Amino acid sequence: MRQWYSTQIAIITGMLIILLLIGFAVIQSPEILEFPETSPVVRAGAMPHAVQGYERCDACHGIDGIKPYPIRHLGWDNRSCIKCHLGYP
Ligand code: HEC
Ligand code: HEC
Repeated sequence: MRQWYSTQIAIITGMLIILLLIGFAVIQSPEILEFPETSPVVRAGAMPHAVQGYERCDACHGIDGIKPYPIRHLGWDNRSCIKCHLGYP
C-alpha cells in the first residue's frame, strides 16, 4: 500500500515538473506557439494602394470610414498597420 502511494507521488511530481518546464519555456520564448500559417502577419492582406499619402489609415478604415477595418482593429495605432499589411509596391 505504502509503496503504491510513493509511486503515485513520484508520477504526479514528475508531471508537475514537466508542466512547469513547459510553462517557463512558453514564457521565455512565446514564438514556439506561433505557426507561420496562422500568424496574423501572414494572414493580413496587402493594401491595394500605396502607404505614402495614405498614412492616416483610420481616416478611411476607422469604423465609420469608407472601408472599415475589422472591429478587433479598433484603437490600433496608424503606425502599427504596416507591421502586418504590406503597401502596394
Ligand atoms: C484615402 C483613404 C485611405 C487611406 C488613408 C488608407 N486607405 Fe486602405 N483602402 C482605401 C480604400 C478605398 C480601399 C479599398 C480599395 C478597393 O477595394 O479597391 C482600401 C483598401 C485597403 C486594404 C485592403 C482591404 C480589402 O478588403 O482587401 C487594406 C489592408 C488597407 N486598405 C490598409 C490600409 C492601411 C494599413 C493604411 C494606412 C497606411 C490605409 N489603408 C490607408 C482607402 C484608404
Ligand atoms: C497584428 C497584425 C495587424 C495589424 C497591426 C493590422 N492589421 Fe489589419 N488585418 C489583419 C488581419 C489578420 C486581417 C484579416 C481579418 C482578420 O482576421 O481580422 C486584417 C484585416 C484588415 C482589413 C480588412 C481587409 C480584408 O481583407 O477584409 C483592413 C481594411 C485592415 N486590416 C486595415 C488595417 C489598418 C488600417 C491597420 C492599422 C490601424 C491594421 N489593419 C493593422 C492584421 C493586422
